[in-house]
Amino acid sequence: MERRKSSSKPQTGPNLGRRKRVKKTNISKTALGEEPEKRQRKKSAPMRGDANPRALKVNVKTSKFRELGSTLWLRRQLNDPYVRKAKALGYRSRAAFKLLELDEKFSLLKPGARVVDLGCAPGGWCQVVAKAVGSKGKVVGIDYLAMPVVAGTDVLEMDFLDEAAPARLTQMLGAEADLVLSDMAEPTTGHKSTDHLRIVALAEVALDFAEDVLAPGGAFVCKVFAGGAEGELLARLRQKFTTVKHAKPKASRSGSAEKYVVAVGFRKKP
Ligand SMILES: C[S@@+](CC[C@H](N)C(=O)[O-])C[C@H]1O[C@@H](n2cnc3c(N)ncnc32)[C@H](O)[C@@H]1O
Repeated sequence: MERRKSSSKPQTGPNLGRRKRVKKTNISKTALGEEPEKRQRKKSAPMRGDANPRALKVNVKTSKFRELGSTLWLRRQLNDPYVRKAKALGYRSRAAFKLLELDEKFSLLKPGARVVDLGCAPGGWCQVVAKAVGSKGKVVGIDYLAMPVVAGTDVLEMDFLDEAAPARLTQMLGAEADLVLSDMAEPTTGHKSTDHLRIVALAEVALDFAEDVLAPGGAFVCKVFAGGAEGELLARLRQKFTTVKHAKPKASRSGSAEKYVVAVGFRKKP
């Protein structure tokens, strides 16, 4: 030990090379941490770009006080660029971007339009629709969860499956609708076919309502899950609308089976 500390004298013998290598390695890894260039790169990594993977690494500091499910959910939220973007732009949910994308693709939202938003809490779609239709339009929403008011909308706090709900919505709307949106979904059970059947059931009830309330030429947008029993629903949509398409907005998580069916050109029964 002593010899190592004070070895300013030239050394000879078989240990010389090895000792030097050990010394170098120790200095770079333990005394100074990472190489200076690496530390600089970390500090200057930009946090603004959505596509920047370095911006997507936030850890949950309170994870030891949380259950695993809650930690995973929070980590996903903290690392989700759409959640950040929604917060920055004042949207109540990241779902707002799904509707914005669908609108860009299918030109669904028009000034002065009358729109129904099924399963509207916490209100991201309501915000997007209210802005797009403006003061001459009408936005009516329903959700069994309470949500703070979105300016320019009327929201009913009620289960859409309650048999009184469709009539209440129609009354609030006061005239035929140009667009019926349904982002309704129950919390998933994790059992794929059960979740699929539940969402198709909601979609069918939403379509029943849309058929009653839509004006000729109107449109219907509905959340469904990929890869399951939506055949009947699609057949019905193709009969009632001139064009039916599926869309998976970028804002919809790639790992989720969620997608949207967009039907335009409603053929109203005479
Ligand atoms: C994905 S969230 C909708 C998010 C919303 N589009 C937004 O932009 O904020 C689905 C909503 O559907 C609602 N929902 C599910 N089943 C419903 C039902 N039977 N009646 C009313 N709301 C329902 C849930 O309460 C939930 O708030």
